[in-house]
Amino acid sequence: MRIAMIGTGYVGLVSGACFADFGHDVACVDKDSSKIDALNDGRMPIWEPGLEGLVKANAERGRLTFTTDLAEGVRGAEAVFIAVGTPARRGDGHADLTFVFAAVRELAKALESPAVVITKSTVPVGTGDEIARILKQEGAPAGTSVASNPEFLREGAAIADFKHPDRIVVGAEDEQAREVLREIYRPLFLNKAPILFTGRRTAELTKYAANAFLATKISFINEIADLCEAVGADVQEVARGIGLDNRIGPKFLHPGPGYGGSCFPKDTLALLQTAEQAGVDQRIVRTVVEVNDARKLGMAARVADALGGSVKGKRIGVLGLAFKPNTDDMRDAPSIPLVNALIEQGAEVTAFDPAAMDQAAGVFEGINFVRDAYSVADDADVLVVITEWDEFRGLDLDKLAARMRGRSIVDLRNVYDREEAERAGFDYRGLGRPVGPATAVRAAAE
Ligand code: UDX
Repeated sequence: MRIAMIGTGYVGLVSGACFADFGHDVACVDKDSSKIDALNDGRMPIWEPGLEGLVKANAERGRLTFTTDLAEGVRGAEAVFIAVGTPARRGDGHADLTFVFAAVRELAKALESPAVVITKSTVPVGTGDEIARILKQEGAPAGTSVASNPEFLREGAAIADFKHPDRIVVGAEDEQAREVLREIYRPLFLNKAPILFTGRRTAELTKYAANAFLATKISFINEIADLCEAVGADVQEVARGIGLDNRIGPKFLHPGPGYGGSCFPKDTLALLQTAEQAGVDQRIVRTVVEVNDARKLGMAARVADALGGSVKGKRIGVLGLAFKPNTDDMRDAPSIPLVNALIEQGAEVTAFDPAAMDQAAGVFEGINFVRDAYSVADDADVLVVITEWDEFRGLDLDKLAARMRGRSIVDLRNVYDREEAERAGFDYRGLGRPVGPATAVRAAAE
């Protein structure tokens, strides 16, 4: 099938490359000519494992093309996906649909024959109706219809998520749109991936509800972690103990410095805006947002505690800056408020991230970047783990300790074993784990 993908950001590029890999003929369109030039040269604008190989292989076979010309990209397309950005609007948190509507207006003029227009961007409930109205108003060919097909891709695992989805959600109001989407996803359908056909508004809301629920799970376990610290329980074991219950499930129960990234912070706020406009209070999601904001801001105090109350004049070594591992994405990363607070309070911060240093350089002022994890430890008073990159898990703790001037680790992702860290001479502070030397805690329990 001939598919056009408008927007070659994270979602558009991954989806376009995967559709081409299914054997469809995909044209990716973006206004940013430097991005399109780079893609035509085989260079990726984002860091995502496996993406470069997938793009190159499909481009070589002629199934995946890149253009800045929307009219050329959509020529002959039976399906046109909209995957442009929907950033949170400054001030009110509402999803900013400027790019979506601009693309739709241009599309209406460019289409020569009817197509199914599908939103992949995360858009508030009712956006599909507005797109249908604009298409009609701007003279799109009769028979053009609008569907919603939200993405559920995790950065760092996006290709696997696309090819082995837990489910595919399609919101459509007519049989033609359902038929086209069934055909597009046929390879996954044959693989027994569940496809859920719903109304358009239901599909739009499903995306927000999914992300708000996952954000709720994270804030929940973060609060339980605080309680564990206060009462001498271990949150890892509590998470396992509840996660083995099928009704709860083990995923998204890892405590951390608060959720970040391009989706959860933005989508929870947008859901609250939709709810406010509909006059329906969403107290749970509102609280989740508050809990998460407070958590991110509260992390600096943990570092200060480990240093006896103040970070002033101290050297702090930071391991990981990206909002999660396997990405270079810094959007809404918990490292931002944490590192900025440490600098404001007079600390000297040295950091290493395996992928996000270029992005981070544009975010932070006044931090030192080093080229490997061990160099972060040089003369540091404390090490702070912010992102759980696998390469940090295997670091030699004795080697780290030998390069430091202090002996503290604040492990905001619980990547280290406390007894091991203590054997290397560290004062170890994880999240939601009993505080104080392991032996003392054991003695108290006996
Ligand atoms: C998320 C959704 O998972 C995906 O389905 C959606 O389409 C886009 O948003 P992503 O933002 O890439 O994906 O990352 P995800 O792995 O979900 O993590 C989001 C944030 O939550 C990260 O900051 C991560 O560190 C944090 N997190 C996640 C936790 O703190 N604890 C957990 O147990 C899981």
